[in-house]
Amino acid sequence: MIRISNVHKSFETNKVLDNISLDIEDADTFVIVGKSGIGKSVLLKCITRLIDADTGIIYIDDEDITAASRNDLLRIRWKIGMVLQEGALFDSMNVFENVAFPLIYHKLAPMNEIRKKVFRFLDLVEMSEFVHSFPAELSGGMKRKVSLARAMIMEPKYLLYDEPTSGLDPESAGIVESLILKLKQELKITSLIVTHDIDLAKYVGEKIALLENGTITTIMTKETAFLPTSVIYKHFISNRERVHKNNENQF
Ligand SMILES: Nc1ncnc2c1ncn2[C@@H]1O[C@H](COP(=O)(O)OP(=O)(O)OP(=O)(O)O)[C@@H](O)[C@H]1O
Ligand SMILES: [Mg+2]
Repeated sequence: MIRISNVHKSFETNKVLDNISLDIEDADTFVIVGKSGIGKSVLLKCITRLIDADTGIIYIDDEDITAASRNDLLRIRWKIGMVLQEGALFDSMNVFENVAFPLIYHKLAPMNEIRKKVFRFLDLVEMSEFVHSFPAELSGGMKRKVSLARAMIMEPKYLLYDEPTSGLDPESAGIVESLILKLKQELKITSLIVTHDIDLAKYVGEKIALLENGTITTIMTKETAFLPTSVIYKHFISNRERVHKNNENQF
């Protein structure tokens, strides 16, 4: 279980996370939605301590990652895979090397096994034919799929996804969605996804939370979150409608 307890994070005067508390149960597929710049990426980075929260506690299983020593931090991070919004592939490595990197770096398997595994995960994201390509030769969506394969290859207990479908065509988005579901069904991976994509939230989310003004204001199950009357549904739909209405009035 990931337990986020009273987390605050500011950048100078910019209060981004203002008392966030949230439990992500094992085998949950939890989706957090919230408008751009609200702190979704910052929250994911605090969970893995790529960014240090100012105050608050984040438990990964029963260990407080915010207070972990360097060695403990590395050990706890083993349990967590993360697909960063920006993809974060190594530009000097080809697709094979990028995906194989965590396994090779940590000497986790002999090379022939690593090879098999890399191809299995590249097949899953339909990127095997690009195994020799370098990131600069790939589109944004293709890079996204490669970084997904790299996170999944470690088969971590928890997978954190930052906008995993942004920039993908509908078919590729569908591949990512079915992968998230498959990882849950087959490997019991717990997923935390932050996104603007209502379709992604609908297809994979079991619990859906709304991040507003630095805090989680609503948590709903998939059965209620997408009813036209729900706060979360309205958030997805009405923000866009409101902007159009404002523009109509202005021009
Ligand atoms: N390293 C940083 N230093 C200073 N400010 C930061 C840093 N990282 C994020 N911020 C600020 O924190 C706020 C939240 O940013 P964040 O990237 O989490 O938004 P987001 O919800 O992920 O947005 P998007 O949907 O566009 O990805 C923004 O105001 C951003 O400028
Ligand atoms: Mg973001």
